[in-house]
Amino acid sequence: MKAVILAAGKATRLRPVTLTMPKALVPVANKTLIGYAIDVLKGAGFTDIGIVVNELESPIPQTLKDGAGMGVHLQYILQEEQLGLAHAVSLCQPFVGDEPFCVFLGDNIFQDKMSELFSQFMNSDAQSAIALGEVSDPTRFGIAELNADSTIARVVEKPKEPKSNLAIAGVYLFRKSIFDAISRIKPSWRNELEITDAIQTLVNDGQRVDSYTLKGWWIDAGKPDAIVLANQLVLEDLPYTPALEDKAQIIGKSEVSHRVILGANSQIIDSVVRGPVIIGNNTIIKNSYIGPYTALGDNVTVEGSEIEASIVMQNCVIRNIPGRIDSSLLADNAQVVVAQRMPTTHRFVLAENSYVQL
Ligand code: G1P
Repeated sequence: MKAVILAAGKATRLRPVTLTMPKALVPVANKTLIGYAIDVLKGAGFTDIGIVVNELESPIPQTLKDGAGMGVHLQYILQEEQLGLAHAVSLCQPFVGDEPFCVFLGDNIFQDKMSELFSQFMNSDAQSAIALGEVSDPTRFGIAELNADSTIARVVEKPKEPKSNLAIAGVYLFRKSIFDAISRIKPSWRNELEITDAIQTLVNDGQRVDSYTLKGWWIDAGKPDAIVLANQLVLEDLPYTPALEDKAQIIGKSEVSHRVILGANSQIIDSVVRGPVIIGNNTIIKNSYIGPYTALGDNVTVEGSEIEASIVMQNCVIRNIPGRIDSSLLADNAQVVVAQRMPTTHRFVLAENSYVQL
């Protein structure tokens, strides 16, 4: 059985981070979002994975290549125009052929490995099975209503008056019947071919669509606050590791707690690090406090500053910031520093949709 990961979206809600970096490559606990999708699929036995991208020469294929480094075989499928999830799925037909297949939204991240969802579908005669998660804001999602036997009675995309709080999470299983259903749907009010409408077409045809209720957390990581929350939830699941004591890396009057992962050639100098925290390679922390749920990437410098519950990507500099930085997202090469000489003004070079709270 093959799987496809949909990663061609423009990710406007994550700008400016996604002006230069596709959402799929945004790091959560120092691993790309799409890396989590590949892990779940690989764990369920999918090794032939198609990734739908908006450009074949984009950073996603350049970074993940043919997948050999992750123990999977990746192929790339081009969606030039973002005409909706159902359109993206229809482009996968040559890749999946006549076999059942999985569709995974590349920006969704799950605690659940969902092995039951995959195995039950293979042994059933359902035409589709979808993962559902409870949400507090059902108007933002595709929403499902269930029959007494937990099969799908109805699905509606972003209903104004939701009939349940069971949202369609980003994992779908289909058989080839979905391609005919997609060919019969019309664009929605947001001018997209909705996969939700294609699933409803299967239901209208009298076909069985199964549901699977997710265990644990699920995040649609489309916005900065959702990415920061996903980072916290993943770090929360870090297993216990004893406090680090390596004298070459932990220097001076430093205190490093348990559940701190420290990369090669990184140093903690006269600083306090309280896990769960993950720190990449060649990163220097000096006279600083790194609090729980923080992920620092490679080649980062944090000096004279306090930070917690944040994501700091590669090559960033944070220096002499008064107060504590919290719930923040710094993309590659960002710098937050305090002026060392007069005039001590605020000075910003910000990309579109940047956000600064002082
Ligand atoms: C899409 C689907 C929606 C689903 C959601 C999950 O929404 O259309 O049914 O609930 O993903 O993340 P979108 O992210 O396009 O608004």
